[in-house]
Amino acid sequence: MMDQLQQQIDAYQNEIAAATASTPEEVEQFRSRFLGTKGIVKTLMGEMKQIPVDQKKAFGQIMNAFKILAEEKWEALRTSVAASVSASGPSIDLSLPGDPPPIGSRHPVILMRNRILSIFQRLGFAVAEGPEIEDDFHNFTALNLAENHPARDMQDTFYLSQNPDWLLRTHTSNIQIREMEKGNLPIRIVCPGRVYRNETISARSHCFFHQVEGLYIDENVSFADLKQTLYFFVQEMFGKDVRVRFRPSYFPFTEPSAEMDISCMLCQGSGCSVCKRSGWLEILGCGMVHPNVLENCGIDSSKYTGFAFGMGVERPALLKYGINDIRLFSENDVRFLQQFTPAT
Ligand code: DAH
Repeated sequence: MMDQLQQQIDAYQNEIAAATASTPEEVEQFRSRFLGTKGIVKTLMGEMKQIPVDQKKAFGQIMNAFKILAEEKWEALRTSVAASVSASGPSIDLSLPGDPPPIGSRHPVILMRNRILSIFQRLGFAVAEGPEIEDDFHNFTALNLAENHPARDMQDTFYLSQNPDWLLRTHTSNIQIREMEKGNLPIRIVCPGRVYRNETISARSHCFFHQVEGLYIDENVSFADLKQTLYFFVQEMFGKDVRVRFRPSYFPFTEPSAEMDISCMLCQGSGCSVCKRSGWLEILGCGMVHPNVLENCGIDSSKYTGFAFGMGVERPALLKYGINDIRLFSENDVRFLQQFTPAT
């Protein structure tokens, strides 16, 4: 009888030694299994009456030691679970609202770029993009700027030191060359992108900025098409009351070339500090694509003609949002950037 009980107790002792708990519920399971009113200790104690009298004392001592072992283990499990629960902080209230993740906003330059593009897209222009690291041919030579052409000095260029044939594009006009080279005519594209010039950084200029360029090539495209397209654009962009004027200008890649001004929307043309008292704001350069440029791209200039234009994106964004320092666009201060997302 004693032997059998001893064997059982040995097995329970092993179980106690191996017991672990990681939650209060597991601690309670241990307690009720060994120390509960119907637990193992009580049950084994109940065997006492069956033990022969001369062995009762020895059995009592064994049971006492067994009970203490179970109680000590219970205490140890309780302490360790309590410690880990308090280390993991207060319990979570799942009914509380969560922390909202920060929501990004569109950059004001991108908002302005998208507005410009969408006006031309409505006229049937597709969006085309091209590389920011460009070779001399696509940025200059194909655009009728031969080597040593003085007009190259108009655009202070960042050259790559490993290979001076490579540069950071100074305008998005490289995209028109790349599209014309593909030879799928007619071409009607707007080309957005970032451009780079080695200029002193100030409130009005930066060493990089954004442009949108346009190109339309087909048979019988005329300067009248150019004027009407750009007039439609500025009316959509700045309102029906805007007036435009074209001033003769020079770009190597267009002939004839012009700068297009719009009447200053801040003073309605009467003259203010933004338009430098002239009543006019210069917003883009344009012209009829030079035959040399068409031929450089393998397009028959006796059959096809086209117009092109190029504008900066930062300037209209400054005007539209009433911002007076171009550097704010690239400082990545979210308090500034978050102010321009239109309400949805
Ligand atoms: N590429 C010129 C610039 O960055 C802008 C420009 C002017 C583009 C006239 C054109 C154009 O396509 O026809 O200053």
